[in-house]
Amino acid sequence: MSKLDELARATIFSIKPYVPGKPIEEVEREYGISGAIKLASNENPLGPSPSVLEAVRAAVPRIYNYPDGNCYYLKRELANFYNLAENNFIIGNGADEVIKIIGEAFLETEDEVLYPWPSFSEYIFVTKLMGAKPIPVELTADFKYDFKKFNEKVSSNTKLIFICNPNNPTGTFANKADLQEFIDSLPADILVVVDEAYDEYVTDPSYSSAVELLNSKKKVIVLRTFSKIYGLAGLRVGYGIASPEIISLLNRVREPFNVNLLAQEAAVAALKDQEHVRQSKDLVIEGKKYLYKEFERLGLDYVPSETNFIFLDLKMDSIKVFKALLKEGVIVRTGDIFGYPTYIRVTVGTAEQNKRFIFSLEKVLESIE
Ligand SMILES: Cc1ncc(COP(=O)(O)O)c(C=O)c1O
Repeated sequence: MSKLDELARATIFSIKPYVPGKPIEEVEREYGISGAIKLASNENPLGPSPSVLEAVRAAVPRIYNYPDGNCYYLKRELANFYNLAENNFIIGNGADEVIKIIGEAFLETEDEVLYPWPSFSEYIFVTKLMGAKPIPVELTADFKYDFKKFNEKVSSNTKLIFICNPNNPTGTFANKADLQEFIDSLPADILVVVDEAYDEYVTDPSYSSAVELLNSKKKVIVLRTFSKIYGLAGLRVGYGIASPEIISLLNRVREPFNVNLLAQEAAVAALKDQEHVRQSKDLVIEGKKYLYKEFERLGLDYVPSETNFIFLDLKMDSIKVFKALLKEGVIVRTGDIFGYPTYIRVTVGTAEQNKRFIFSLEKVLESIE
């Protein structure tokens, strides 16, 4: 260990830096190609609603001002949308920031944090950042939630439980009855964070948002984002929904101007255009139908998904396939980061992008076999 390393908090050496999906520009530069497509980060290929672009353009001249630190108009819009109060919301620089704020507000070093595995890596990140103990709870062999396994791992040190619903990277979900029964079974002093980044894509009627559980006696925080179906990933805005008491604790550690001015304007406009949300959802439903059929034709096993991405078993080293796909200008995500080295996670794109992905995948699989 160098002298500099000795100055750093010991816990940061347990953190693996986040590996994001490769940006389009980087792939085009590296491979000397143009027209690459990114199906790696579950963004909306339709982009945001046209009314969002208008709102952002109109707000640009005002960027010399600090943004509203309280996100007044966005909270008012959200309160209206959910039929809740403004003080039920905390807005973050992406849901990622809200996850970090939750950790900073609640986690002490002796605390244990339960999270599903495989799942979104930020839960482990924030747990390790705070020096708390991450405890993975494996999904079943077909990537479903088994809440009995969670119950078995709950101890007197459990402070926080993350539930990713529907889950990234598997696209599977916990149904309303199971989730409610699980939350009801927990001691009242455990916080349950239900990350619903992909809620808007779900079609299965047995699913229900945990927003309905906010009035229960348990301590529930629901996370949502504008990065996915609303198409605002580049602006960074997400939010938490919880009781005013929880929100006021979270606000103690929130930076004063954490959500930029353009992001606030964009989010307000995005929420008002629910027709764009419907169109985006329909595109994904159609895209999944096509992709499932193609996967079956290619003899590939996939996990049926309630989200805008699919976890797919290639039954071979997926890094090889990933690299070959990059040369074709198609960017996906490898499963090794989730502990599944033969899987890839692919975002459902436009009909044209999906076709191009299948064409490139078939070509690459033939060349590797
Ligand atoms: C499950 C889940 N939660 C949260 C996020 C982060 O969202 P945001 O872009 O709002 O930080 C993501 C993004 O990939 C995600 O997959």
